[in-house]
Amino acid sequence: MFLMKRTGEVVHGAGRGAGLGFPTLNVAVADFELPFGVYVGWLTFEQKKYSMVMNWGGRPTFGEEAPVLEVHLLEGSGDFYGKTVEVEVGPKLREVRRFAGVAELRTQIAEDVRRAREFFQSGTL
Ligand SMILES: Cc1cc2nc3c(=O)[nH]c(=O)nc-3n(C[C@H](O)[C@H](O)[C@H](O)COP(=O)(O)O)c2cc1C
Repeated sequence: MFLMKRTGEVVHGAGRGAGLGFPTLNVAVADFELPFGVYVGWLTFEQKKYSMVMNWGGRPTFGEEAPVLEVHLLEGSGDFYGKTVEVEVGPKLREVRRFAGVAELRTQIAEDVRRAREFFQSGTL
């Protein structure tokens, strides 16, 4: 069950993700006609499918409005830079929000990850 499936190239982000404790892959996708939000989903690279959480939209906490697709893998890692990957979007967890600071954002992403793991175990949100 997924909302949409697209391929895109993994590009470099601003590099803050690792500092937050939630490293992300930025994926450049064309025609990503999806309402902004935080979703669960799957990233496929070379026949391997990874469960993930993703942020599609701006990073209002950092004053950035330009939409980007950022993927945080729940398990596994790899050097995907410059590679073409497939992104499958699953259910939406919440809206993208502006947090008072990095600590609040980190707490929320930890909760997103907890809910995502629950989804991958039970099949429902
Ligand atoms: C699951 C998830 C949820 C996120 N939710 C928000 C959000 O609600 N608001 C926000 O400003 N940024 C959100 N972000 C984006 C982070 O701000 C971003 O990953 C961080 O700034 C690192 O960016 P960089 O890799 O370009 O340095 C989210 C990221 C992830 C992976």
